[in-house]
Amino acid sequence: MEKPDNCILVIFGASGDLSKRKLIPSLFDLYRQGFLPEKFSVLGVGRSKLTSTKFRDRMAESVEQFTESEPVKKEQLQAFIKSFHFISVDPSNSEDFIKLKSKLETLDARYKIGGNYIYYLAVPPSTYQPIIQNLGSQGLQKENSSTASWKRLIIEKPFGYDLESALKLMKAMKKVFSEPQIYRIDHYLGKETVQNILVFRFANGIFEPLWNRNYIHHVEITAAESIGVEGRGEYYDGAGALRDMVQNHLMQIMGVVAMESPSSFDSTAVRNETVKVFQSLREIPHDKVSKFAVRGQYTTSVIKKEIIPGYREEKNVAEGSRTETFAAIKVFIDNWRWGGVPFYIRAGKRLPTRVTEVAIHFKPTPHFLFAQDSKEADGLNQLIIRIQPNEGLALKFGLKVPGQGFKVQNVSMDFHYSGLANTRVASAYERLLLDCMLGDSTLYARGDAVEACWKFVDPILQEWQNNPDLKVYGYPAGTWGPREANELFLEHGVEWRYPCKNLVDDGVVCEL
Ligand SMILES: NC(=O)c1ccc[n+]([C@@H]2O[C@H](COP(=O)([O-])OP(=O)(O)OC[C@H]3O[C@@H](n4cnc5c(N)ncnc54)[C@H](OP(=O)(O)O)[C@@H]3O)[C@@H](O)[C@H]2O)c1
Repeated sequence: MEKPDNCILVIFGASGDLSKRKLIPSLFDLYRQGFLPEKFSVLGVGRSKLTSTKFRDRMAESVEQFTESEPVKKEQLQAFIKSFHFISVDPSNSEDFIKLKSKLETLDARYKIGGNYIYYLAVPPSTYQPIIQNLGSQGLQKENSSTASWKRLIIEKPFGYDLESALKLMKAMKKVFSEPQIYRIDHYLGKETVQNILVFRFANGIFEPLWNRNYIHHVEITAAESIGVEGRGEYYDGAGALRDMVQNHLMQIMGVVAMESPSSFDSTAVRNETVKVFQSLREIPHDKVSKFAVRGQYTTSVIKKEIIPGYREEKNVAEGSRTETFAAIKVFIDNWRWGGVPFYIRAGKRLPTRVTEVAIHFKPTPHFLFAQDSKEADGLNQLIIRIQPNEGLALKFGLKVPGQGFKVQNVSMDFHYSGLANTRVASAYERLLLDCMLGDSTLYARGDAVEACWKFVDPILQEWQNNPDLKVYGYPAGTWGPREANELFLEHGVEWRYPCKNLVDDGVVCEL
């Protein structure tokens, strides 16, 4: 495995939740597998008045609390955090960035880094622009071709709030950093199972010939969560399911499912193909939004004798809020491969279980020979790609039930990731952080792709915000969303797949 160049990882918002739960534990996992650069340092940045010693103590606690894979060895942990430092910087104070520059020069000389820095913006989106601007005013984005030193910027979703703000953010970033320096993280792309869609499609000869409008009837992409807003009411109420899940994670998955085969497995070639998918999305006109998109909000319900408050009763959610906790959309990709094949995408909170999956529904046989004994002509052939939990694949088809007659039963040939090897599966952040250090942006979202996705969802967001006639349908917490979401499907005579029927998650893993 190639070792990344020596570098300093500068984490803005190092005192926050994302650093504590994801970034630092992922770095620790990389460290103990020997994947970090020979010379490596973390510089935590924030308004907090932390000393470097206090910062190291806090990061050590995070590793102990949030590293799941193996028990943490004390000596290893101490060796890992010994090159961690902290500096107090206010994102909006340009003077503070002079201090930051000087601190980076000191650390660079001390650890013999050679000028390679990654700036990770693990801060609220409102601070992205001042940070980027201030980095630029100190020349901290400048690369040096004679020493081959590089600078990279990782930004967290949301990449904007709507098309207009996304374009504004992009313009501000491009003033300082060039596109190849920008790494927009969408942690779904870092998930092993999403990457496996690429391998499944392009390493096998048997599925790709079927992967088109001639054989596929429709595609479903579902991201269900059984939890509610869990104390993040303020953030969620300003976002909603379409912005929080669909515009980024689920559309990125759709890109991987629908793309053409790239000419090589290189970041430009792969991302050229996904962006073509987004650029081929059939625009939804403002006056047709109700035909292509449905939104819902969970209402009070009793689950296992416990009263579950409705969304509007959650803390920090506005009274009478019309923010959707469930969104379902019907999407068409107008190209030769997918012409006429609907992609149904849904995401929601307080659904019966936690599951993310892609379901490919193949067309039925042109004539069903066994109708005398069976009614199961439709829905026999499905491929389920389970992204989480219980990661795996299941191919469903009809077989004869033993005995008299010809009764056809749907059976499943399935594969579970856990059965592949006794190998630890890297977390998405681990994979993506290492890719950035290696300069590989294949699994990061490119600017043109983000823009195309915003262009597609923007009319829906605008109509939902401005048109009081477009209803927010209620659904009792613990059910599969509003009934109205089914109406999207009527013209095709099919329904959503219900991975677990209407059972409320019992900690039981939903079968493939
Ligand atoms: N948490 C997650 O699991 C998660 C998942 C996906 C995406 N994200 C994204 O990742 C980013 C960070 O998330 P987070 O949950 O870690 O955020 P957070 O805990 O709310 O904030 C991170 C840090 O940013 C600094 N900060 C907060 N408000 C600020 C302000 N108004 N001005 C300047 N600095 C401020 C604080 O550090 P100081 O007080 O020291 O300055 C805080 O510790 C966000 O963009 C979020 O959308 C987070």
